Amino acid sequence: MVLTMGNYDEFALEYADKTASMEQELRKHFYSLLPDLKGKTLLDVGCGSGHDAEYYVNKGAKVSGIDISENEIELAKKKTNGNFIVGNMNNLHYENNSFDVVTSFYALQTSDDVPKALSEMIRVAKPNARIVIVTKHPTRNLLESYVNDKNLDYYAKRKVTSYIFNKSIKLSEPGHTMMDYLSASVLDKSKLEVFEEHTDFPASEQVVPGLIYPTLMILKYRKQ
Ligand SMILES: C[S@@+](CC[C@H](N)C(=O)[O-])C[C@H]1O[C@@H](n2cnc3c(N)ncnc32)[C@H](O)[C@@H]1O
Repeated sequence: MVLTMGNYDEFALEYADKTASMEQELRKHFYSLLPDLKGKTLLDVGCGSGHDAEYYVNKGAKVSGIDISENEIELAKKKTNGNFIVGNMNNLHYENNSFDVVTSFYALQTSDDVPKALSEMIRVAKPNARIVIVTKHPTRNLLESYVNDKNLDYYAKRKVTSYIFNKSIKLSEPGHTMMDYLSASVLDKSKLEVFEEHTDFPASEQVVPGLIYPTLMILKYRKQ
């Protein structure tokens, strides 16, 4: 079945199932970039059904998770021990300097204001804390918006149609440029320690057959 809403409430269970089976290698690599979590306070932004939160709890972290989808948060609460709340990543309901680690796995691209969401993650992180993120690559946005939406402009503020998990889920999410992730407002307050580009076909659709391009990127910032 192709689900057509860019709203994770509609397919919370299906997403949880597919993400568990199709993204394990990527998650393993992502986890290897995190500091030792024992006794640390960790915030997972766009935590979804709590797949990563469960791992962080098992590693000894005190986990908080925030997601805009009520259904995802209900699943997360059932999955593991943590403080899970419904909320918007553009406006985090936490005090300044609260967390030792902030993570976000494939969720930041859903924000309509990436610099604001990143600034929020940095604000709630303690000084020197790491903020570690997997997000959609702007090159993928460009190709998907060209092929799926006939959009000709990399810079246009627009929704991008994309298909994930062997085309079983259709998404419509804001498009972003690389500048959104490397804006001066973000790099003023943090140091970029890791920047990686990766390809995750077939979890992401290869919209131009044969063309190999980056579909996701990993960013690790250290709060200054
Ligand atoms: C691709 S899923 C990733 C979920 C989870 N991190 C995982 O890896 O399973 C993106 C998540 O971002 C959430 N989301 C979308 N917009 C959001 C927003 N403005 N604030 C917080 N969460 C949001 C969605 O509800 C969804 O759970």
